[in-house]
Amino acid sequence: MATKSSSTSVFLFIFIFCIFIISQAVSDDDRKVYIVYMGERPNGEFSAERLHINILEQVLGSGGSSSLLHSYHRSFNGFVAKLTNDDAHKLANMEGIVSVFPNQMKQLHTTRSWDFMGFSKNVIRTNLESNIIIGMLDTGIWPESESFNDEGFGPPPKKWKGICQKSSNFTCNNKIIGARYYKADKNFHPTDIQSPRDSEGHGSHTSSIAAGALVHKASLSGLASGLARGGVPSARIAVYKICWADGCSDADILAAFDDAIADGVDVISLSVGGSFAIDYFNDSIAIGAFHSMKNGILTSNSAGNSGPQLASITNVSPWSLSVAASTIDRKFFTEVKLGNGEIYKGTSINTVELKHNLYPLIYGGDAPNTKKGYDSSESRYCSEDSLDKALVKGKIVLCDSVNSGEGPLAAGAVGAIMQYYLDSAFNFPLPVSCLGSDDGTDVSTYLNTTRKPKANILKSIEEKDEQAPYVISFSSRGPNPITYDILKPDLTAPGVDILAAWSQGTTVTGYEGDNRIVPYNILSGTSMSCPHATAAAAYIKSFNPTWSPAAIKSALMTTAVPLSLETNTDAEFAFGSGHLVPSSALDPGLIYDAGEIDYVKFLCGQGYDTETVRLVTGDRSKCSDSINGTAWDLNYPSFALSATPGKSTRRVFHRTVTNVGSGVSIYKATVKAPPGLEIEVQPNLLGFKAIGEMKSFIVKVKAKIDGNNITNMMLSGSLIWDDGLHQVKSPVVAFALEEE
Ligand SMILES: *[C@@H]1O[C@H](CO)[C@@H](O)[C@H](O)[C@H]1NC(C)=O
Ligand SMILES: *[C@@H]1O[C@H](CO)[C@@H](O)[C@H](O)[C@H]1NC(C)=O
Ligand SMILES: *[C@@H]1O[C@H](CO)[C@@H](O)[C@H](O)[C@H]1NC(C)=O
Ligand SMILES: *[C@@H]1O[C@H](CO)[C@@H](O)[C@H](O)[C@H]1NC(C)=O
Ligand SMILES: *[C@@H]1O[C@H](CO)[C@@H](O)[C@H](O)[C@H]1NC(C)=O
Repeated sequence: MATKSSSTSVFLFIFIFCIFIISQAVSDDDRKVYIVYMGERPNGEFSAERLHINILEQVLGSGGSSSLLHSYHRSFNGFVAKLTNDDAHKLANMEGIVSVFPNQMKQLHTTRSWDFMGFSKNVIRTNLESNIIIGMLDTGIWPESESFNDEGFGPPPKKWKGICQKSSNFTCNNKIIGARYYKADKNFHPTDIQSPRDSEGHGSHTSSIAAGALVHKASLSGLASGLARGGVPSARIAVYKICWADGCSDADILAAFDDAIADGVDVISLSVGGSFAIDYFNDSIAIGAFHSMKNGILTSNSAGNSGPQLASITNVSPWSLSVAASTIDRKFFTEVKLGNGEIYKGTSINTVELKHNLYPLIYGGDAPNTKKGYDSSESRYCSEDSLDKALVKGKIVLCDSVNSGEGPLAAGAVGAIMQYYLDSAFNFPLPVSCLGSDDGTDVSTYLNTTRKPKANILKSIEEKDEQAPYVISFSSRGPNPITYDILKPDLTAPGVDILAAWSQGTTVTGYEGDNRIVPYNILSGTSMSCPHATAAAAYIKSFNPTWSPAAIKSALMTTAVPLSLETNTDAEFAFGSGHLVPSSALDPGLIYDAGEIDYVKFLCGQGYDTETVRLVTGDRSKCSDSINGTAWDLNYPSFALSATPGKSTRRVFHRTVTNVGSGVSIYKATVKAPPGLEIEVQPNLLGFKAIGEMKSFIVKVKAKIDGNNITNMMLSGSLIWDDGLHQVKSPVVAFALEEE
């Protein structure tokens, strides 16, 4: 989604700019939209609106009620209001309020993948799978897609309390059992459809990855052809449309959580994030995920597409699952053929077979749109408007960077060769191939030394990638910027070049000039890996309906397969516990469980006070000597230790595991540690006599990271509990933080 999100932000900027002018003209209003978060909802009946108006009137006087935009009350307490900075500040200091933060826009983190994970369509399933409801918080859904056909489905499960929001021309069925949409600011863009219908494509794509029906012979114009299917094809989908042309607002994200939890979904999938990590209770996604955890619902989040920079991950709360994106063993290549017979292999997804054998080739830098004031320093990048139509029309243009392709298309080019290596293949609105720098230089030399240079761009081909899986460069990396000592991301799942359902309300790229309306499309992003993990969580829950969100998460993490450190130089910061293996997660042996009280201890230890903790939990929780845990003692299925370079750091981690494997069993601890890391487990044998029995142990870790060797900044070790049948794996990592 890299190409797409950059154009979204440009668009977003223009859009915000227009609104700014309009609102300036209407009034001199310096109020902004804020979220006022008040924690758990009071027990029993309460009039949320009256309570919220009352609070607003205390600060704003009798006219306070007019600034209330939305009340949250079904699953937690809080409201959305238009406030000045001063008023927001006053509210933040009032009793009963956890946090006040400005409403901001988050962005989308834009079928063979299941087979690649060893999860065939014939894996054992339970009839209870059709009782599982997945809440998709996204751009909506295209209900007529074959992937959402409800053939063979009975009526919705009895526990379902949601609705199909009445709107023109959108109907639910027994597959899509509920659908709602949210837009607190009511600023609709012309391409927005005011219904749960998906005009973007993203929500249909993610929903079908998680729970799409089996659809044979699905492909994008013949590419990635085969059986398209979701991870849990019998599960139900509940749609919560929160993302629109201008992004996904915090106010709408929280409104969707408020409803989804009360509606009775089993798992929540959210492939959306902000641009940087923020404090848990200033983050709509972390707040929503906390209340879903309290209600037994796991939230599966995309890690983000801001890699490979370290600490770029944004969805980091310990009560949710953070999913990185890795490759599958299929890779797309697009060949470039030159007039001299040379052929170069680039990356992209090109569905088009061009008519002629060769087309004239021109360098973008030689075709500036001088009439509009562009020179070759701009046109070499083929940016929008910078190319001269008269020179480019009917030709293939060579560009010095990767761009959306809109510039060459608008100038009438038949294709574009872009110079920059991409490790994943993206869609463009015209035939494009992205070449590595050596190949790009060859093409440039050929162009400069040939009287009539010619080229062609062929339709993409698929090849097997023997190196897969590896975490893709765009996938956001750890460490966790909010709590260093909780390892994030948690695991990785397929998120590169995934075929899944698409919206008929848009085209392959959504760009002007693209006329390809398709039922299935190929996309990359942690947006695509997240619903793979969501489905795996739903699969586990269909067999173990009473398992807590932490138990499900533990099963997914301790059975994941760590990836090669050679192809993944950022190690656990890239893949967390490893690559998801849904069928192994069904039989994890032991689980690291955690409930609300464990997160309360963690929050106390992170410096939140009793008042905040009480509001968030809605009970008499109290931070005290005994209710005060370090990050190392949260019963997490992985171990992370931040250390000062050049000094030795020691930590003791307390953990408790619950036996969910064989009744009578003995587990032995095995540790692996590189030089510089010492790991000791006490006791190193755990004997169980029954299912459900719990045993505690401690892990003592000593780490010394060489302050003079940056390549040694992370030490990757592991702990495996093994009873001969189950290997319960946890990464144990130590890493250096920069010296203060
Ligand atoms: C939460 O956001 C508010 C408003 O931007 C800010 O004043 C406050 O410091 C933030 N709190 C934390 C803990 O980051
Ligand atoms: C409703 O949507 C479907 C799917 O796009 C379309 O075929 C149909 O014409 C629409 N009907 C109306 C009344 O807009
Ligand atoms: C080809 O010529 C352009 C100037 O038109 C120059 O910028 C580019 O570096 C040349 N390519 C090579 C490989 O020398
Ligand atoms: C919790 O522990 C931290 C340090 O581990 C300490 O600073 C804090 O005062 C403790 N809080 C309570 C309420 O005991
Ligand atoms: C830094 O660590 C790497 C990996 O262990 C090692 O190969 C390299 O020789 C070290 N470099 C120095 C300058 O010590």
